[in-house]
Amino acid sequence: MNPIPPSPSVNRRSFLAASGAAAASVTFTAKSYAAIVGANDRIKIGFIGVGGMGSGHVGACKSLKEKDNLEFLGVADCWKTRADQAAATLGTKAFTDYRAVLDIKEIDYVTIATPEHWHSKMTTDAMDAGKAVYCEKPMTHSIPQAQAVMKKQRETKRPLQVGVQAMSDDSYASAAKAIANGVLGQVVQAQIEYVRRYDKQGPWRNPETTDDTPKPADLNWDAWLGHAPKIAWNPHHYFEWRNYGVYSGGIATDLFIHRITRIMKACTLLYPRRVTGMGGIWQWPDGRDLPDNFEMICEYPRGMTVYVLGTMSNRVGVDHLIRGYRGTMHFTADGWEARDKDGKLLDKHKKSGGEDIHLHHTNLHNHLRNGEPLNCPVELGMAGVVAVNMANESWRTSQMMGWDSKNEKMVPAHTLNLSHVPETPAEA
Ligand SMILES: NC(=O)c1ccc[n+]([C@@H]2O[C@H](COP(=O)([O-])OP(=O)(O)OC[C@H]3O[C@@H](n4cnc5c(N)ncnc54)[C@H](O)[C@@H]3O)[C@@H](O)[C@H]2O)c1
Repeated sequence: MNPIPPSPSVNRRSFLAASGAAAASVTFTAKSYAAIVGANDRIKIGFIGVGGMGSGHVGACKSLKEKDNLEFLGVADCWKTRADQAAATLGTKAFTDYRAVLDIKEIDYVTIATPEHWHSKMTTDAMDAGKAVYCEKPMTHSIPQAQAVMKKQRETKRPLQVGVQAMSDDSYASAAKAIANGVLGQVVQAQIEYVRRYDKQGPWRNPETTDDTPKPADLNWDAWLGHAPKIAWNPHHYFEWRNYGVYSGGIATDLFIHRITRIMKACTLLYPRRVTGMGGIWQWPDGRDLPDNFEMICEYPRGMTVYVLGTMSNRVGVDHLIRGYRGTMHFTADGWEARDKDGKLLDKHKKSGGEDIHLHHTNLHNHLRNGEPLNCPVELGMAGVVAVNMANESWRTSQMMGWDSKNEKMVPAHTLNLSHVPETPAEA
């Protein structure tokens, strides 16, 4: 793992700028990042990790090639067959060592779509090599790693788009403006979910993977493990890594990050004050060490809670909504509607974007060309990592976690003298 650096400070003002709520009025972020490439120049991309999601990035960028004026200059995967296939799709070179892609000096940005335990190292290496980065969610596996990435981003000023692509759905930035303007009155609670129903193997098991599945001859297993403990080839770890805490945070970091980030953006939230995570390996005790059913509640200093439901045994969800004293905001397939206690419409928004990696890449391209604010910048990436890691730590240790804002780290909540009243002025 990366060495743990001193924590960088994030204040509410810089977060507001990044979150989109204040994007129109605070432009320093966009200005300082702008003109990485000239407005009409071709943007040159390298790809690191081309398994499931990495192939999605390859396909998305290929389909944007003409419209966004892109060129592809290298693909790396420690499984050579995968690197070769993606490189053939793009008509570029294949590598098995990601540092070979970082050595290509013409590359403007790299996509990183490897398991979580590699995100921080690859992102900081890419920034050191002068590259901008589109890194898949969660931005990092741990909170200290997120702090290291943020510190590196501040030092190098390299743009970082975190792969929570729902941030390119304008519903959440629009909700933030409406909430800041008082449409809901004082906001006190939000609920959201990520539910699925898995067949008999349970979440993230590959029916074709058995204990005896051999290692592909051209896969570099040691490279895949990286900084994780060295172990002999384990097909379950390679193909089903989301079930193991050493590489993943499971439901919280893989799925909840998509959802909680929406509420954070809509309610302009940064770090939670207290977090509880509950659940268990209820249904599939098959050697996994992360829960197959999980829920979390985060309490934020502005005086509100966010509940996230996450069963993997039943796909009946709950409405995605934000509750205020004056009204309730309901997120729908088309955007959102705010209604008062009697159901009277207070305001609504029809979305123009969507949860779409094409839009998320184009946002990064526009950022590199003309400084358009990033839809999911490092501050938002880090705030998500903090919330879901606190939930997992709460679950793991059977205690409520608290955020020590002075020392910028999570600690058992009972060791902090945390308030029960809002610490920042609530909205109207
Ligand atoms: N945004 C989304 O909707 C979404 C959806 C799926 C996955 N993801 C994210 O994408 C990332 C990858 O997930 P996946 O499902 O594609 O996993 P995967 O296992 O299918 O693919 C990961 C690839 O990275 C390669 N890799 C690992 N270590 C490497 C190294 N050191 N050097 C080069 N290549 C290396 C592996 O060989 C593999 O091909 C995760 O962060 C995941 O959370 C995001």
